Amino acid sequence: MSAPNKSYDPVEVEALKPEEIERMRDEALAAFAAAGGLDALHEAKIAHTGPASPLALANREIGALPPHAKAEAGKRVGQARGAVNRSLAARQAELEAERDARVLVEEAVDVTLPYDRTPSGARHPLTTLSERIEDVFTAMGYEVAEGPEAETEWLNFDALNIAADHPARGEHDTFFVRGARRPGGEAAGSGVVLRTHTSPVQVRSMLDREPPLYVICPGRVYRTDDLDATHTPVFHQVELLAVDEGLTMADLKGTLDHMVRALFGGEGMQTRLRPNFFPFTEPSAEMDMVCYVCRGESVGNPDRPCRTCSSEGWIELGGCGMVNPKVLTACGVDPGKYSGFAFGFGIERMLMFRHNVEDMRDMVEGDVRFTRPFGMEI
Ligand code: DAH
Repeated sequence: MSAPNKSYDPVEVEALKPEEIERMRDEALAAFAAAGGLDALHEAKIAHTGPASPLALANREIGALPPHAKAEAGKRVGQARGAVNRSLAARQAELEAERDARVLVEEAVDVTLPYDRTPSGARHPLTTLSERIEDVFTAMGYEVAEGPEAETEWLNFDALNIAADHPARGEHDTFFVRGARRPGGEAAGSGVVLRTHTSPVQVRSMLDREPPLYVICPGRVYRTDDLDATHTPVFHQVELLAVDEGLTMADLKGTLDHMVRALFGGEGMQTRLRPNFFPFTEPSAEMDMVCYVCRGESVGNPDRPCRTCSSEGWIELGGCGMVNPKVLTACGVDPGKYSGFAFGFGIERMLMFRHNVEDMRDMVEGDVRFTRPFGMEI
């Protein structure tokens, strides 16, 4: 700041002339008005109100004036700076309001809009359950085997000791695949059926590999049933086959007991075998498991009725037995050296009693409301 000079008159000092001060003020007001956004306004603020702004520099000059001239110059500069600051504040408020209004529009969330994320589905519980069963057996060293759903009659029936006129063949209510139609004639039999059970995979496994053989085969099977609460023409079975030296029915029983404990957990789970007949096993049995809900405690106990097993204490699971030596022979396995056990049961049925599914149609209709509660367990 320059020292006071007695002869100075603010009107004579270039920066303090009234028209200069007015010009500085007007320039500032114009710059604020021209600022289109808060950033531009900030720049204009520094340029016109900051320490290096024309008005701030003019203000400094006042100190150099003689006392009689200071008041007037001070008033003039002060008024100009006041006008500039008011204009700045007004523009600042204006631009902030504009920004707030814009943000409200740009960042608005319309909660009534339909959402565009694809709802996640769920795995079908039959898939999950069949993989669980596989896991129980692969953990014991079994391999998962597969076979085609369109199967030869020989593998589906004959090799399993179900002869053409065998009553069991009628019970299977088979879908036959039609062969080529001769001109003007009936379609010839193709020798192919939609497999009625997973047992032909036993035969395929024995034909494919040498014993010892431990395989589990889950898969889709077909019978000419109408769809109702307890039947479906397409359903799933799991087949198990073990062929080795010295296998007995005790091995079969131990394997079944382990399976129901692994799948249904807890104390008291076991199976029982009831004599039955299957052409491909000898001896054959029907296998039941302890009711996993009441664990047998509802039997003879009217105070504790059980809906799952109708208070019988047991739930029927499927069929099993020691592989018939005729089947071993048909598959090229020496029954003098090897013996085998096998079982098969329906996965839909197990899903029904394991999860209280009352209607089989729910499993085939593909409604995600049925599958979703089972979740994504993999
Ligand atoms: N294949 C039979 C069925 O579909 C079930 C069965 C019974 C499978 C006894 C077996 C078995 O492996 O040993 O009714």
